[in-house]
Amino acid sequence: MIWGFYRFFTKCSGMNMTRCFQIGCGIIKQKNNTTKTPKTQRRVKTKMKKLALYYSFDAHTKRIAHEKSKDLKVDLLLEIKELKQRTKFNVMTSGAIEAIRMKKSEIESLDVNFDDYGTIIIFMPLWGGSPAPAMNSVIELIPKGKEVELYITSEKGDSARSADNTSNEIQKRGSLVTKYVDLKIG
Ligand SMILES: Cc1cc2nc3c(=O)[nH]c(=O)nc-3n(C[C@H](O)[C@H](O)[C@H](O)COP(=O)(O)O)c2cc1C
Repeated sequence: MIWGFYRFFTKCSGMNMTRCFQIGCGIIKQKNNTTKTPKTQRRVKTKMKKLALYYSFDAHTKRIAHEKSKDLKVDLLLEIKELKQRTKFNVMTSGAIEAIRMKKSEIESLDVNFDDYGTIIIFMPLWGGSPAPAMNSVIELIPKGKEVELYITSEKGDSARSADNTSNEIQKRGSLVTKYVDLKIG
């Protein structure tokens, strides 16, 4: 019966019988032209990949995000853009109020698959003691199980009043804030 199976297999696969026997006994390994990354390796790679997102009204956070992304070896850096075009007056009035109330703002959709990244890094300016409203929209996009690093830019370099609230919002959604950094704009 085994002989019959070998004959059938070699006929179908076009392999000679000696080679078939050697593979069967584990003497040699079958050549495989397609290189596949093992599942575990793929998981580790995804875990190590870093996605950085930034929102910037006056370009300070943009500059910082670009500089830091190099140091942090970020794989992909994307800008968060609000749908609504804000004026300086709007930012100083309703923008700050929305930030303090932790309101979301409508943002352009991002062309990225969050599942491909293990660490999400967010650069966000402080408005009236709280991160700009775009932060609350970004938080909603983060899937569970990510490591999140926050970099908050401000004039004084102090966002202590809102730090816990921001981190809690992220952790409530099932991700972990592993780093919280206040950056004073120079
Ligand atoms: C509406 C508004 C509110 C701000 N509130 C604060 C604040 O409470 N504390 C602070 O240190 N800086 C505050 N700033 C300064 C900004 O946090 C700082 O300039 C920020 O880094 C600007 O980032 P951007 O240039 O990327 O928009 C405020 C700026 C704006 C426009």
